[in-house]
Amino acid sequence: MKRNSILLLLFLCTALRAAATEGMWLPFLLEKMNEKEMRAMGMKIRARDIYDVNAGSLKDAVVIFGGGCTGEVISQQGLVLTNHHCGYGAVQGLSNLENNYLLKGFWAKNQPEELPCPGLSVTFIVRIDDVTEAMQAGITKGMADTTRTRLFQQNAARLEKEAKKNSGYDALVKSFFSDNKFYLFLMEKFTDVRLVGFPPNGIGKFGGDTDNWAWPRHTGDFGLFRIYAGKDNKPAAYSKENLPFIPRRSIKINIQGVQEGDFSFVYGFPGRTSEYLTSDGVSEVMNILDPARIKLREKRLSIMDADMAASEKTFIQYAAKQAGIANYYKKWKGELLGLQLNKAVDKKKAEEAEFTQWVNEVSGRKPLYSGVIDSLSAVYKRQAPVIKQYEYLNEAIWASEVMKKGSVLVNLQKACDTLTSMDSVKKYRDELVQFLTTINLTTDEKITRELHGIYANDIQSNPFSSPEFIRNLYAQSMITHPEQLMKYKTIAELKAALPKDPAYMAFVYYDGEQKKLLPGLRASQSRLTALYGQYMQALMDYKQGQPFYPDANSTLRVSYGKVQGLAPQDGMEYRYFTTLDGAVRKHNPNVEEFAMPEKLLALHQAKDYGRYTIEVDGKPTVPLAFLASNHTTGGNSGSPVFNARGELIGTNFDRIWEGTMSDILYDINLCRNITLDIRYTLFIIEKFGGAKWVVDEMEVVE
Ligand code: ARG
Ligand code: GLU
Repeated sequence: MKRNSILLLLFLCTALRAAATEGMWLPFLLEKMNEKEMRAMGMKIRARDIYDVNAGSLKDAVVIFGGGCTGEVISQQGLVLTNHHCGYGAVQGLSNLENNYLLKGFWAKNQPEELPCPGLSVTFIVRIDDVTEAMQAGITKGMADTTRTRLFQQNAARLEKEAKKNSGYDALVKSFFSDNKFYLFLMEKFTDVRLVGFPPNGIGKFGGDTDNWAWPRHTGDFGLFRIYAGKDNKPAAYSKENLPFIPRRSIKINIQGVQEGDFSFVYGFPGRTSEYLTSDGVSEVMNILDPARIKLREKRLSIMDADMAASEKTFIQYAAKQAGIANYYKKWKGELLGLQLNKAVDKKKAEEAEFTQWVNEVSGRKPLYSGVIDSLSAVYKRQAPVIKQYEYLNEAIWASEVMKKGSVLVNLQKACDTLTSMDSVKKYRDELVQFLTTINLTTDEKITRELHGIYANDIQSNPFSSPEFIRNLYAQSMITHPEQLMKYKTIAELKAALPKDPAYMAFVYYDGEQKKLLPGLRASQSRLTALYGQYMQALMDYKQGQPFYPDANSTLRVSYGKVQGLAPQDGMEYRYFTTLDGAVRKHNPNVEEFAMPEKLLALHQAKDYGRYTIEVDGKPTVPLAFLASNHTTGGNSGSPVFNARGELIGTNFDRIWEGTMSDILYDINLCRNITLDIRYTLFIIEKFGGAKWVVDEMEVVE
């Protein structure tokens, strides 16, 4: 009896703990909200080692990489580790037919060989402040939604301006819990970022779209960059004179290995989640958004993929675009399937029923919270057609790059009043000439024909979606033939001619369609935010005492959990790690996605693994990726994955198929993040890339 109750207690504790791996927590609240649990799960450091307002902490080594990824500083010379797919666009920009770094990889032999990446940036978080009170200035109860939204925007702009003036840093105010909390972030952005090392696609993108979002995984998804700064160690535009940036903090690397059950945490910038959607919100995703996106991207990808396979030039032009489109296409497919299989709507409905009962229990709650869910429901119902058309405009109409570029003609036409000579038109022509080097016209025309056809069919047919109009546009437009811009004698003639251009006309039409939707969309967004704000307050009250995390919003977060495999489906078990041997088994020289470079195969043949060797079933190999129960999402790519001592054990890069719905519905029994084992990264840099000099910069715990 006694033993039984102890077992029961143990079970309850582990169940509670398991559930707590859900959440993307605010680093400055860890001490208050999570430290105890993190320590109980095995963490050996203090919450203050992760984030400290007054002293240095791990936070100082975690960066926003480019527009939407995370990176970590791993040497005292500004070395940054992130994912291969996070650097993919930058490396595409450096690639051409002679130097195709995507297919061949790149390894600098020393710092002077590192390649500047124009447009790439690395951003540090300097400070985070609660500005909720200041943001409330002028806000009154019962204020119209759109007025409130506008006031929040004005307040944020003012606070950002002041903070920037006072500190010299970039400043950004972000909303949490649907406008219940606001924090201001001071940030320092470096723009001289250079490429240090990049494995070829046969390692960094190994498994391609087939293996993407899935386990078992064998992708060596990493890239190495370096931050350069001016002589004062401050951000500076690219210059030969710049020096490697000396960071406040760099992360120690641990190659002792990971075991199932080990505590781990992920520190990064998750982009967007919607964990608190009502059942109607989930239905919108399942019935409108995901199906539209999947259908439209499937078509677009089939065209791109075929043309990329047929020409290396097209491959380079479309590599990064294709990766982005394919990535979310597959993610939405997995998400939709997961939401269906796991009966997300029913689950939400059951929760809502309980919540409503709780509201009705005590008379004081009713005036505060009753009716919220119904009001949300009404907004979703009202906005359904608008949401659908808006998504179609984005995913079908603007999928046409030429059509989108119609904006140049419209802007030029407006500028005509101030242009003095035809000479000043040259820069518009040059922009278009440059644009045409980034696309394949035949591919773009096919995409336009197909996707605008679907738009006409599913949303609304119009004169600009007919095949004849589109054919004529590609054959005649000034976008596809920029020299035509220069054939006019005067600006007045040009100005009169522009509105007759087919790309101009189509752009004006679709842009107008989009603008028509905006007021309605803004109103319903404001309404949703207000109602969700109320709903969030109610939920906090309802779940009294339980720690609560805000949805991801591209701000710094900590997720924690354990290294662990899982049984995602009946009759199926996932071991928690993969190895180089598993990758070699998938090698297929005839299938681009699975073609491994010869040199890696040779290293495998020779078992030349150095200190990165592990033994599996009595045979030497190198660990490749591992699973853990850390709650992550897009934007967490490249995030450092730490062990209990706050040492780097890997780089986060994906989630498993069965758990892709975790942005909306997290389930510990189905969701895992996928981490690239740091030992594979170092093995590839050192043995494959021959860049041991970079590894020597790092502080490695053996
Ligand atoms: N699924 C991962 C993430 O969301 C990796 C994407 C890599 N891209 C790809 N198309 N394979 O970013
Ligand atoms: N691969 C994703 C990214 O680009 C991160 C993985 C995820 O979405 O879980 O950020």
